[in-house]
Amino acid sequence: MNPYVPLKTRLEVERLRQAAEALERVLADLATVIKPGVQTVDLEQVARLALTRHGLNGVLEGYEGYPHPICTSVNNVAVHGRPSNYELQPGDLITVDVSAERSGWRADSAWTYGVGKIGSEGRRLQRAAWRATLAGAAAARAGGRLGDIGAAILDESRRAGCRVVREFTGHGIGTSLHEPPTVPHSATRGTGEPIVPGMVLNIEPVLTLGSGEVAKLDDGWSYITADGSLSAQYEVTVSVRSDRTDILTLGRHRPVLNRSTPPYG
Ligand code: MF3
Ligand code: CO
Repeated sequence: MNPYVPLKTRLEVERLRQAAEALERVLADLATVIKPGVQTVDLEQVARLALTRHGLNGVLEGYEGYPHPICTSVNNVAVHGRPSNYELQPGDLITVDVSAERSGWRADSAWTYGVGKIGSEGRRLQRAAWRATLAGAAAARAGGRLGDIGAAILDESRRAGCRVVREFTGHGIGTSLHEPPTVPHSATRGTGEPIVPGMVLNIEPVLTLGSGEVAKLDDGWSYITADGSLSAQYEVTVSVRSDRTDILTLGRHRPVLNRSTPPYG
C-alpha cells in the first residue's frame, strides 16, 4: 500500500466525526434558505453564520486562492461555482460544497438542492447522484480496492442513464483537506490500491445528464458541463474500519438515509 496514506486511530475518527456532523448541520441549515429569488452570495453569508454557530471554521476561503467559504454550482456548473448576485430560479439545481475544520480536523461535504419544484430530469439526476454516492460509500470496505468505489458509482450512474465526470476525484481527509489516496469515481472493480482499516475517504462523484465532458470558465474556478447539461453532486466522508464502514457526514440524517431519498426536504 502507498505508505503515505495517513491511517486514523479510532480517537482520530471520532474527532473527524465531530467536525463532519457539525458540517452536516451547516448543509441542513442551508436547505432552509434555498428558495427562488435568493442570490448565491446570500448563501455565502448564511454559511458563514452557520459555520460559526456549529463550532466550525471554514477552510475554503483562501484555499489555493479560492475567494469564498463555499462553492455554489448551479445547473450546468459542475463544480467550484462562485457565489454571485445570480438569483436562484424555480427548478434550478444547486450544489453547495463546503469545507471546514474543528480543532484541526477537516470536514468536507456537498449536497445538491432543488430550488422550488424541480423538473423530472433534474430529479432523476439528483437521485442518481445521491444513490451513486451511497453506492460508492458502501463499496469502500476493508479488503476491497479503491477501484471498487468507482465501479459502484459508475454502475449506479449508468443505471439511471447519467454520466460520471471522470476528472473529478475523491480524496483522503484528516488534518489536511486533501490527503492521499486519490479516490476514483469511475473505475474497474478489483483495481487500484487496497482499502485498509483506518482510511477516511471523501467520495464526491459529479454526475451529469450529458456527455460528462467539462470545461473551465474564465473566472478561474468554475467548471461547466461542455454540453450545457445539468449536473449534481453529493460529497460524503467514510471511515473504513476492519468490520464496518461509517458515513461520518450523515450522522443526523440516518433516519432518511435510504437508497432513493436525498437528505433534505
Ligand atoms: N470540496 C472541494 C474538494 O473536495 C473543495 C475544493 S473547492 C475549491 O475538492 F474551489 F476551493 F477548490
Ligand atoms: Co472534497
